[in-house]
Amino acid sequence: MFRSIAVAVAALYFAPSIFALHSAFPYGTEKIRGVSLGGWLSIWPFVTPSLFDAANDSRIIDEFTFSQYQDRKKVESILKHHWDTWITEDDFIAISKAGLNHVKVPLGTWAFGVNKGEPFVQGQLPYLKKAAHWAQKHGLKLLIDFHGAPGSQNGFLNSGHFLASPTWHTSKTNIEETSTAVKQLAWMFKDMTDTVTIIDPLNETPAFLGPNVTSIIKDFYTDSYGNIRYPYGNSRKSSTIVLLHDGFSLNVWDDFMITPEWEGVMFDTHFYQGFALVDQQRTYDEHIKWSCNYTNTLKSSPHRLVVGEWTTAISDCGLYLGGIGMGSKYDGTAANSTQTGSCEGLTGPASKFSPSYKAFLRKLWEAQVIAFERGSEGWFQWNWKMEIAQEWSYKSGLQYGWIPQHVTDLKYPHICD
Ligand SMILES: *[C@@H]1O[C@H](CO)[C@@H](O)[C@H](O)[C@H]1NC(C)=O
Ligand SMILES: *[C@@H]1O[C@H](CO)[C@@H](O)[C@H](O)[C@H]1NC(C)=O
Ligand SMILES: *[C@@H]1O[C@H](CO)[C@@H](O)[C@H](O)[C@H]1NC(C)=O
Ligand SMILES: *[C@@H]1O[C@H](CO)[C@@H](O)[C@H](O)[C@H]1NC(C)=O
Repeated sequence: MFRSIAVAVAALYFAPSIFALHSAFPYGTEKIRGVSLGGWLSIWPFVTPSLFDAANDSRIIDEFTFSQYQDRKKVESILKHHWDTWITEDDFIAISKAGLNHVKVPLGTWAFGVNKGEPFVQGQLPYLKKAAHWAQKHGLKLLIDFHGAPGSQNGFLNSGHFLASPTWHTSKTNIEETSTAVKQLAWMFKDMTDTVTIIDPLNETPAFLGPNVTSIIKDFYTDSYGNIRYPYGNSRKSSTIVLLHDGFSLNVWDDFMITPEWEGVMFDTHFYQGFALVDQQRTYDEHIKWSCNYTNTLKSSPHRLVVGEWTTAISDCGLYLGGIGMGSKYDGTAANSTQTGSCEGLTGPASKFSPSYKAFLRKLWEAQVIAFERGSEGWFQWNWKMEIAQEWSYKSGLQYGWIPQHVTDLKYPHICD
């Protein structure tokens, strides 16, 4: 008990440390309101099913196999076309017009260096530079996040390499190569810290594998702190925020990097309510109540937090979300799943969503935004753009009215009171 009081007092007392870094964004005063460009510089069947359908090969299920089982020149030309067209400057203009102030760009460490034995294709960095210039031009701040690393840090499809048992943490080489990529990323944007204000060295780290793996992650985070804070050498600090993922175990980090010498550290936590059976079975009203209660969860951490991923989807119905041909737990088509209901009407093109579903999505969106802004430094919604599963798309939400034209223009400002 004494410890937790001490930690709470320390958190209040040392709160100004983030300002001491003179960030180009007033973190701690203004809320982060952002959206992710997931599926752009690293590809994922869930975001762009068409890229994978076109491959027409049952072995191709993620970016790894996409690169492994197709002709290299062909992969390079498909990816280049995707990078050129999926996100353009117009997206940055629309994001800025919607009142958002941050954009998150996920990518694999292979953009900087490909691990020996991995098939990934390079060419992403000119687009990352473009993203930074577009953000700068349109008044947006950038969070750059490594979403995939050698050996896959979590085995998830969104890491680019689907594995039942992730292997990143089992090899020193994997970890060192990731640190090298973090260093190169910080170096690349060391003269653009007015725009690239946050770096996340590795998304969804596997703290869920237990304390031994968490201790490996802690060492990696400590190295990452140095790599991000000191890109100019030891005599001068960068103002970049170091964003560390909680590995789905928020309170494991309560006494990690909490003392004042760790400046500008934020933790990233993700909230989803479409995957677990208990979440899938909630009624619309229960989803709203559950969302409002996120404030309490966020306040249970002594760290500055940002909700780096969340969505208005309440099911795993989205095409290829669980993997190509894997079905959905929600409608019982996934292996060993308990059916909650039909996916009909919950996913797909937003033009087919019913007025009552869209009205609910608006409330769910507002309840989460309110809860996150009360409990943390802000949020990044996943995802800006979706080819098929548009219940996940910010852009579709704007177009079909379940997201306000300006981010602060709430219809239900008291929904959580
Ligand atoms: C997909 O592959 C199968 C078997 O290899 C082939 O018969 C079929 O024509 C292909 N479809 C397309 C659209 O290329
Ligand atoms: C964790 O590490 C300790 C000390 O090295 C070891 O004794 C233990 O077996 C490890 N636990 C697991 C689950 O690997
Ligand atoms: C609300 O969140 C807190 C903190 O995470 C948790 O302990 C509590 O059980 C939650 N309440 C409800 C009704 O879910
Ligand atoms: C489904 O359950 C069976 C029996 O428990 C198990 O062998 C199998 O691995 C499970 N499949 C999946 C995809 O979880």
